Amino acid sequence: MSELNLILLGPPGAGKGTQAGRLVEDFDLPYYATGDILRTAVKNETELGRAAKQNMDRGELVPDDVITGVIGERVDSAEARDGFILDGFPRTIPQAEALDRMLGELDRRLTAALLIDAPDEEVIRRLSGRRICVQDQHLYHLDFDPPKHDGKCDRDGSRLIQRDDDKPETIKRRLEVYHEQTHPLIDYYEQAALLRRFDGCRTQAEVHDHIRATLATLRLESEL
Ligand code: AP5
Ligand code: MG
Repeated sequence: MSELNLILLGPPGAGKGTQAGRLVEDFDLPYYATGDILRTAVKNETELGRAAKQNMDRGELVPDDVITGVIGERVDSAEARDGFILDGFPRTIPQAEALDRMLGELDRRLTAALLIDAPDEEVIRRLSGRRICVQDQHLYHLDFDPPKHDGKCDRDGSRLIQRDDDKPETIKRRLEVYHEQTHPLIDYYEQAALLRRFDGCRTQAEVHDHIRATLATLRLESEL
């Protein structure tokens, strides 16, 4: 079977983490979400966490070289030999070029860049109601995907909290940063014929079905 090397692109709150959770179950691939990796590093007060915290709190990106090293190690690991799902990386053109270089050195290439898109108003609604579990960052939404018991994770029973960067003023800055620095990646991957677009305003199940159908077609094409 051919490798499945995927990246998830899209504005904050479009549903990248939500869909990744489903795709990991479908395809049994390792999942690397730079936001989750950085939040864990901040919580554990590691060197990486100290380097990232200030930028994250402001809704800014952490420096390219800081995050590129983190992903390089993972893409080159034994568990990612048959593929991977990257969420939140790359997020700038230099990061995308670095990923191409890293994969090229391993004689590999991306299978597809999956863009989950949503307008700013929807992003604000999603992020304002989002809650995550303190244990493993499982995702909920107060209106669209509420937990069975108030304030508790369905999966591991741990406490649900709001992310520090889901405050209104930080959401606004994250959206600006997305439009300035990450949006250019849409053209970058379109030109490389890797871009696949999904409407993030559909239900979670509809977006998931659409992505699965697209990946099934890509796999068939690669086997021809
Ligand atoms: P990161 O954690 O990657 O945040 P983000 O890109 O802003 O994306 P989010 O995680 O907020 O949104 P999502 O698309 O995953 O949506 P979700 O599935 O949760 O990055 C955080 C920070 O880390 C950055 O600001 C930066 O500082 C730093 N960083 C990370 N990577 C970096 C990099 N490469 N370079 C530099 N800095 C980096 O869904 C949102 C909500 O909506 C949930 O409540 C969910 O339940 C709900 N929902 C999802 N789908 C649907 C649906 N279809 N219908 C209704 N509700 C839905
Ligand atoms: Mg996420």
